[in-house]
Order: sequence, then structure tokens, then C-alpha cells
Amino acid sequence: MGSFTEWEWFVQQFKILSSVDLTAYKRPQMERRINSFMRTVNVSNYKKFIDILSSDRDIYIRFLKHITINVSEFFRNPRHWSILEREIIPLLLRERKSLKIWSAGCSTGEEAYSLAMLFEEKRVNLTDKILATDIDREVLKKAGEGVYTAKAVQNVPPNYISKYFTRDGDVYRVVDRLKERVSFRYQDLLRDRFNRGYDIILCRNVVIYFTEEAKQVLYQKFADALSNRGILFIGSTEQIFQAKDLNLQPIATFFYQKYGL
Ligand SMILES: C[S@@+](CC[C@H](N)C(=O)[O-])C[C@H]1O[C@@H](n2cnc3c(N)ncnc32)[C@H](O)[C@@H]1O
Repeated sequence: MGSFTEWEWFVQQFKILSSVDLTAYKRPQMERRINSFMRTVNVSNYKKFIDILSSDRDIYIRFLKHITINVSEFFRNPRHWSILEREIIPLLLRERKSLKIWSAGCSTGEEAYSLAMLFEEKRVNLTDKILATDIDREVLKKAGEGVYTAKAVQNVPPNYISKYFTRDGDVYRVVDRLKERVSFRYQDLLRDRFNRGYDIILCRNVVIYFTEEAKQVLYQKFADALSNRGILFIGSTEQIFQAKDLNLQPIATFFYQKYGL
């Protein structure tokens, strides 16, 4: 086999098939997740697995879902949302009349709609719709529909529920007025170019399986995409090493501010 292992072959073939670059993800975790999925479809080698992924659309979509892990919540980590509301937004509005916002790795939309509710409540002007992006087209579809279970909305304050959702049997539907504030779009954070001038970028619980190198490249791209003194809001288990090299300064736990040169 030489130095080209079965794993490397699989990664190469999967990239051709899906354009997802698994080399940017931490290998042990990824391999484990992939092997566990292979067991569920009864295949034990990568060659056979690639054949199945190429021919069975349903398994292919389930597999993408399995490796991307889409769990999300409204107002996930409420203490951080309270810092966003009480400290970060007022800080930004001291020198701006409106804000440009991006939820990167938005999954099924809970984060983007939480932002939309918060800005609506605080009467914050937005430059544009909130941009919400993900690599998984299935979750983007769900996000756009804006339909959630009672369990999913349990963290949403009751007065927000009555204003921003309509109850329909067992489910809660986001009202059109809120939906119109968000634009859900496909994007691969590892491959695609970013727009610029964002005042707040949220990238939370997305990079957990990225390698250190991939994270560093991504954080550099985020730093470039931020407006001067814009804020990067990251997940509660994450930290940016060498933030200084990226002209980012920690200003609260999980919030980094870009400073000008
Ligand atoms: C755990 S969810 C996080 C959702 C939300 N940000 C939160 O904190 O609740 C992670 C999301 O990152 C997305 N993701 C993973 N790799 C990605 C990539 N290369 N580009 C864009 N999104 C990616 C996954 O599809 C998944 O929906």
C-alpha cells in the first residue's frame, strides 16, 4: 500500500464526491464517527463505502449529517447572550448606527433567530439581513422553514414566544416578520471566500472537529471579514490561541474584538 493508506484514499475520494475536505478535521474523531456510521450501513471497507455513497443519495445525505453534527439551541449559553446584549451590542452602537451580522455554521437556525429576536426587542438597526450559513443543505432547509418543537423553544422567554412564534398543534412556527430578517445560505467555511464588513460574526460549536491549522486559517479569515472593532463570538469550549497575531483582542470570555492597525 506504500504510504497512501486506505484512509487517505477515502478522504481523497470523498472530496471528489462531496467537495468536503476531511483533512481539515481532527482525524481520530472523524475516523471514529465515520466508522460508526459505516457499521450502521453494514460496510466494513472504504472502497465499498465510497461505492454506496456515490450510488445511494439517501445514505449520502445521512452520512453528511452524521459527520457535521447539527445540534443547536435558542440562546445557547444564556450567560454569553446576556453579555452580548448588555455589553457588546451597546459597545458597538456607540460608534455605529446599524450592525452587519453573520451566524457562521448556523445549523437549523436557532442562533440566527435568537439574534433576530434580540435585535427586534432592542430596536437595533441592521445594515442588511442577518447572514446565516452552513455546509449542510438539509439543516438550511429546516432553518428556512422555522418550525420547532416545544422542547426546542424551551429556552425562549415566554414573551418572545408569544411575539415571534405561532403555535400550530405540537409545533411552533417562526413568524414571517422574523424570518424576513434572516438569509440562510450554503457555504463551506473551509473553502469559500467570505464577504467583509461584519460587525458581529458568531462561529460557535462549529470548529470542534477542525484541526489546529484549519482553525487558525479560519480565524484569520474571520478577522479579515470583521469591520474595524467588530466582534467575533465563539463557542463556550473554544479559545483562540495567538489571537494577537490576528489583531483580535479578548474583551470578554468568548468575545474577541478586532483592533485597527
Ligand atoms: C453544532 S452546530 C452549531 C450550531 C450553532 N452555531 C450553535 O452553536 O448552536 C455545527 C454546525 O457547523 C456546520 N459545519 C461543520 N463544518 C462546516 C464547514 N466546513 N462550513 C460550514 N459549516 C460547517 C455543521 O453542518 C453544523 O450545522
